[in-house]
Amino acid sequence: MLKQLDEIQEQALAALEGVPDLSELDAWRIRYLGKKSALNQILRDVGRLPREERPAVGRRGNEVKLALEAAYQARKQTLEQGELAALLEKDRIDVTLPGRPVPLGRIHITTKTLRQIYAIFAQMGFQVYTARDVELDLYNFELLNMPPGHPARDMWDTFYTTREGVLLRTHTSPGQIRAMRDYCPEPIRVILPGKCYRYEQVTARSEFMFYQVEGLAVGKRITMTDLKGVMAEFVRQMFGADRQMRFRASYFPFTEPSVEVDVDCIICQGAGCRVCKHTGWLEIAGAGMVHPLVLQNGGYDPTIYSGFAFGMGPERIAMLKYGIDDIRYFYSNDLRFLEQF
Ligand code: DAH
Repeated sequence: MLKQLDEIQEQALAALEGVPDLSELDAWRIRYLGKKSALNQILRDVGRLPREERPAVGRRGNEVKLALEAAYQARKQTLEQGELAALLEKDRIDVTLPGRPVPLGRIHITTKTLRQIYAIFAQMGFQVYTARDVELDLYNFELLNMPPGHPARDMWDTFYTTREGVLLRTHTSPGQIRAMRDYCPEPIRVILPGKCYRYEQVTARSEFMFYQVEGLAVGKRITMTDLKGVMAEFVRQMFGADRQMRFRASYFPFTEPSVEVDVDCIICQGAGCRVCKHTGWLEIAGAGMVHPLVLQNGGYDPTIYSGFAFGMGPERIAMLKYGIDDIRYFYSNDLRFLEQF
């Protein structure tokens, strides 16, 4: 019996050497230390042995059991460490590899242009004044010297709402009245940026929604010279010192006199091309001296106060600056376009 125990120990330890992983180790444990193992069998049957053999077999049996258990624990630890090391090796991260690029968003071309416009006018003392997109007919037309039925209303195709007298503003000019009524009788120097809406066929040249930046200066002794100086400085900063600028006589009901502001064509340098329709000039803004009736509607006495105003389209300015030939690119969210700026 003692010899059998020695054999069990020898055999079990030898088998343990060859156990490759934790699952086989468990099989080993069941085989050599489990309930049905030969060792357990012997220990259980010690009572049936002749009395004089019992102590020696019992002692030796327990020794073998402890030895196997200790060997099992040691092997288990080694295997566990080995598996951990293998796992770490397998999932190893190469920190020297370049990272995957994360796509970054960017400022929309309109926003970028608006910010440039704000910065240029801020230098000349103009504050940003925000007016509403949904306007009253009163402000969009009537107080700008276009009573109902005035033929100049046809210059703006309008989105009306189901509410009588409420519309989407067709230009930022109604903000002039709001600013004047807010500031009167203080002098004013503001720009009014915002969205405008027109009930128009969408083409390469016109969208149904676009931005405008309105400008308004009201005070005593403001003249057309001030308007021209401000526009010239804007053109110089926005398009560079090489550009020529001119005022061309025009008509708007809310200014008198009225002009359109042109710069010489960026594409052909004034020689004449398709973009400037062979005139050599590109229009960038409408402007003029605020009409006395409009000043009065804003609360200012036109015999004491005067003012100038202008309105420009930032998309149009961006188109000229970057050579964009279709306004529809701005709001159709094509990343191939947007990512260029
Ligand atoms: N509101 C005009 C338009 O949308 C542009 C404009 C012209 C604005 C002359 C002005 C101005 O302030 O003085 O066509």
